Amino acid sequence: MPARVDPPLALLAELTHRCPLACPYCSNPVNLERAAGELSEQDWRRVLAEAAALGVLQVHFSGGEPMARRDLLALIGEANGLGLYSNLITSGALGGAREIEAFAKAGLKHVQLSFQDFSADNGDRIAGLSGAHDRKTRFAEAVRAAGLPLTLNLVVHRQNLDGVPQMIEMALKLGARRVEIAHVQYYAWAFANRAALLPTRRQLDQATEAVEAARQRLKGVLTIDYVVPDYHGVRPKSCMSGWGRQFINIMPSGIAVPCHAAETLPGIAFPSVRTNSLSDIWHESDAFNRFRGTDWMAEPCRSCDRREIDWGGCRCQAFLLAGDAGRTDPVCTLSPDHSVVAAAVQEAEGLPPAFVYRRYSNAPTSTRPSGEPN
Ligand code: SF4
Ligand code: FES
Repeated sequence: MPARVDPPLALLAELTHRCPLACPYCSNPVNLERAAGELSEQDWRRVLAEAAALGVLQVHFSGGEPMARRDLLALIGEANGLGLYSNLITSGALGGAREIEAFAKAGLKHVQLSFQDFSADNGDRIAGLSGAHDRKTRFAEAVRAAGLPLTLNLVVHRQNLDGVPQMIEMALKLGARRVEIAHVQYYAWAFANRAALLPTRRQLDQATEAVEAARQRLKGVLTIDYVVPDYHGVRPKSCMSGWGRQFINIMPSGIAVPCHAAETLPGIAFPSVRTNSLSDIWHESDAFNRFRGTDWMAEPCRSCDRREIDWGGCRCQAFLLAGDAGRTDPVCTLSPDHSVVAAAVQEAEGLPPAFVYRRYSNAPTSTRPSGEPN
């Protein structure tokens, strides 16, 4: 464990798992939390105060769809009063101009709005909700009318990747300042749908080229962030910028985790804000200290010169693909488990299966495709 741990930069407040959309790549767990199990407004107010006292600078209100919570306006106001920079991460499928104006007045600083595609037909098909794309378009207009900066969040995969140039045009028309084009990360629902979502190499190369061209053309007009799928790379992403280094996620139930998928890791008791202070969770808990720094690493990470760059990749992916969260992330070509990833990329060249949509009643019986370690 490092001698001194800096406070987290940001708190991800997952207010609810409820959401009118059913995206097959949702990062929420396959066992979704129901409304009755969610933290109360009073609990969240306390958590926000503890976050500010701990030194957190930003709060990201997320879900599910955070606008499904009636107390969102009050929580934005609370965060603002505590001096926290607040960001709303939303599908834009609930609410509109009236709510956005009120949020802006309460101190909301930024909106991150997701789109499933540039085309309404394909967007609605991916979201599993008819009319979703049109609602999002109106929502984006309301955000701009309220004077709030807008980032479009475009989660890309095999079934929308060819439309990247048109998605960038859409972002320009909607007045976004920034667009985040992020390939699906394969956990939870996305892992269950991996064979339907993993792009082919040809698709990936074309999309990357389109992004590079747009970046040149739109310099100073639109900032384009682009997160490539690590399955196709040679080294892993620095997941969450390292375990317990910058982020603390609070799930709807109050469980605190260093990343959105950590709850799936066996043998770790993740603490709850219902029983522990945020400071205690961040500094003292075994869960947040388990993979901090580099002491926990085995070879090949232990002696690798990238160990403080990517922090050995993703612990949840190591567990999901190699059955042990303490192993090197198998997307790294130096990992002894890398063949699992190579096989998945190869499989993506075939025909994609149908989606398993994210719904409360639709949890797949197994999140691991057959042939992978249990
Ligand atoms: Fe990163 Fe470990 Fe691979 Fe080195 S061996 S690049 S530290 S995952
Ligand atoms: Fe958990 Fe990467 S998602 S460490």
